[in-house]
Amino acid sequence: MELNRRTVIAGAAAAGLAATTLGGTAHAHGGRTPVKTLFGTLADGTKVYSWSLANGGTRMRVLSYGGIVQSLEIPDRRGCHANVSLGFDTIEDYVASSPYFGALIGRYGNRIGKGRFTLDGTAYQLSVNDGDNSLHGGAKGFDKRVWDVEPFTKGSDVGLHLHYTSVDGEMGYPGTLRTKVTYTLTRHGDWRIDYEATTDKATVVNLTNHVYWNLAGEGSGTVEDHQLKIAGSRYTPVDSGLIPTGELAPVAGTPFDFRRAKRIGEDLREAHQQLLYGKGIDHNWVLDKGLSPRPEWVATLRDPSSGRILRIATTEPGLQFYSGNFLDGTLVGSGGRIYRQGDALCLETQHFPDSPNQPHFPTTVLRPGQTYRSTTVHSFSR
Ligand code: BGC
Repeated sequence: MELNRRTVIAGAAAAGLAATTLGGTAHAHGGRTPVKTLFGTLADGTKVYSWSLANGGTRMRVLSYGGIVQSLEIPDRRGCHANVSLGFDTIEDYVASSPYFGALIGRYGNRIGKGRFTLDGTAYQLSVNDGDNSLHGGAKGFDKRVWDVEPFTKGSDVGLHLHYTSVDGEMGYPGTLRTKVTYTLTRHGDWRIDYEATTDKATVVNLTNHVYWNLAGEGSGTVEDHQLKIAGSRYTPVDSGLIPTGELAPVAGTPFDFRRAKRIGEDLREAHQQLLYGKGIDHNWVLDKGLSPRPEWVATLRDPSSGRILRIATTEPGLQFYSGNFLDGTLVGSGGRIYRQGDALCLETQHFPDSPNQPHFPTTVLRPGQTYRSTTVHSFSR
């Protein structure tokens, strides 16, 4: 406890914030223009900034490092705000050991088997960082890059444009990839993410965001009592390395059936081979709506205790539901409490894992002259 307190105070000093702004309950400003403060400094001297935004009852802080959502506060049924996204208070913690808390993921969200794929007859070897496989863009993915951040207000919206250019060959991927991600808070308090990317050589792209949700508040314990509904009748079963077998299997009659709202903990301990592989749920749902030109509703998460509700709409054809299986009590979060298995869940909108090696999955190939576009909207209510 003593240690945590010191870490928190050191974090406050690094961020140049008054101690009253910590603990995830208050913000440095109440206005609509995003406010920039120093969050910390990387070992190479690069400064990392934190941007505070508020609109429609939602408040968030975003870091220039990894485009990380460092906190996201929404009200409960009585109007009390809590930070519903796992994270840390210091840049040192993010650099040392973050399991992608709140981060932008690229160039390829999820796994590519053996970190290998062939495109137009050329074989590429990616950075391998998860057993034999490449996960979330390799050893130094977009979550560990410093983004250029530009604030905006537009009509009743407030937000940030985040830019990052990934050089040809970075982490083994072909082509210079120019990426722009826009985080918008709408007047209704919705958080919208628009992703865009272009390339100068044929490549593969699959961008997402890795918020760990706990609608009762980060550090409050397990999310097993949250209720989840997913509009997906099939999922992509995996092998022991969590690479899809290629099958699109029905969820009917399995622990993966969330077509009706279900308690997350309900079937989590069934002796199902797929749950053994994932140490719980760590699977991609094939969304019934498929790839869509406009974001369409795909999932609802509800915490009965606080009354907080998250609805997700996306243009993407897939959703990775990860039940926080690898949180193991070794990380101390922004509220000073340790994170244990199942203390949060991720709902990552995306194309399917290992698509570059699965010709019948929706393609993730991006060619020069094309623009990659993807949108996900998170709506909050109570
Ligand atoms: C993956 C998990 C992985 C986690 C990393 C999730 O997107 O599905 O397998 O362990 O990211 O924290």
